Amino acid sequence: MSLDNNKSENKYCKCIHKNVNYNKVNITLYDNEKITLVNCELCQEGTKQLNLNNAVICLCGSMFCIDHIKQHSKDNVDQHNVVAYFGRDHNDRFHCLKCENNVQIVDKDIVDINDLIDAYEMFYNTSLPRQLDQSNRVILDQVNVDGIVKYIQSGQCKNIVVLTGAGVSVASGIPDYRSPKTGLYNNLQQFKLPYPEAICDIDYIKIHPELFYTLAKGIFPGQFKPTPVHYFIKLLSDKGLLLRDYTQNIDTLERIAGVPESKLVEAHGSFNGAYCTVCQHRYSDISIIKQHIDSSTIPYCTVGECIGKSSLLLPNIVFYGDSLPPIFNRCLLQDFGVNNNTTPKCDLLIVIGTSLKVNPIASMINFAQHVPRLLINNEAVGCPSTHPSDYTVVSNGFNFNNQQQYNDVHISDDCQKAVKDLIEKLNWTNEFNNLINKSI
Ligand code: OAD
Repeated sequence: MSLDNNKSENKYCKCIHKNVNYNKVNITLYDNEKITLVNCELCQEGTKQLNLNNAVICLCGSMFCIDHIKQHSKDNVDQHNVVAYFGRDHNDRFHCLKCENNVQIVDKDIVDINDLIDAYEMFYNTSLPRQLDQSNRVILDQVNVDGIVKYIQSGQCKNIVVLTGAGVSVASGIPDYRSPKTGLYNNLQQFKLPYPEAICDIDYIKIHPELFYTLAKGIFPGQFKPTPVHYFIKLLSDKGLLLRDYTQNIDTLERIAGVPESKLVEAHGSFNGAYCTVCQHRYSDISIIKQHIDSSTIPYCTVGECIGKSSLLLPNIVFYGDSLPPIFNRCLLQDFGVNNNTTPKCDLLIVIGTSLKVNPIASMINFAQHVPRLLINNEAVGCPSTHPSDYTVVSNGFNFNNQQQYNDVHISDDCQKAVKDLIEKLNWTNEFNNLINKSI
């Protein structure tokens, strides 16, 4: 089914994520629910403000107004063809960019959509300036590393959330993305990309898979070993102190270090499996891709109707334009969610080796304002920005200068060194060394 092809309709029917014009696009959601969501690229009128009763979360990660879907779906009752994507630059409020009519077609009972709404509700609330709830706050004796060490040793701290990025794997030989000289995005001239992030953009990869696969050869798991930071996270887990390890990294080094799967959220996916971009068939064994990477050829799907066709296979990585895995939303709710005035489970957040430039991960630090937050990074990141176009930096981010209001500590150093120092202060050095020796 397609929408009318007259001009006024056309402009609402280009999918910014799937690069499809005007026709229906069936995006398979997790749990095998099907819904058609095509993002509206050009819709820029109107300012209806979203509230959480009328907000709907597109599984591509965008937020939009329910009325808006209804309006544009009225001729396509079985498909939700058009949504507006949320405006992120209006004082941290989301706006539906256009909405008028009401035709009830949206199935609010879609499996997991409630989880998603809840998760995004947290994003929504915390991205608004708000008073810190002083009564439920954990206060450090000293807002510095010694204060963090004392807190961990006190026994009060039992549910540590660790959030990591590419900086923790640099010592293993994998470059990060944004470091000025060595970062991946600054060393892609050979690929002649329109912009550096294109190498991680699903639409671009579908057109130029050879570029992604050239890159993938250099970073494919098997060539790299976990670093002290990875073993520190494993040690926290062994000590029963790790609530969750959210990693943006796709290198699987947390798994190799032995962080249990139940504690791990690979928020940007990993090389731990593959899928067909056409029929969505899942391959649990990544070797289907590995063989092609080794021979510098492109892997295509080998099942069903895709046999003999150029149906591209990709590893289970979350590219720009993809949704985050459902486990991310579920764990976010479990670890930071609040029901009936309970305090969130997380009682210490440790952020290591990330620029906090990519949402929704970057906004996670908002949820831990009530507890001490430790940043281990060679530059200060995640601080509220005054720059209007910088929407990735969260409004309630780190504040290393206001010790009365915030328990934020920054160790500005190489993360491997900083973690070893921290382990020493915690008197965990022997156990740490044993752990590493056992793993070699
Ligand atoms: P970035 O490269 O954006 O940030 C890495 C951060 O770690 C920077 O702040 C570095 O200064 C810091 N760093 C690097 N080496 C360090 C070291 N040895 N000690 C301390 N700090 C160090 O990487 P991410 O934040 O992980 O997404 O990037 C987030 C996402 O952007 C990635 O997952 C990827 C990328 O586009 C997708 O591809 C979807």
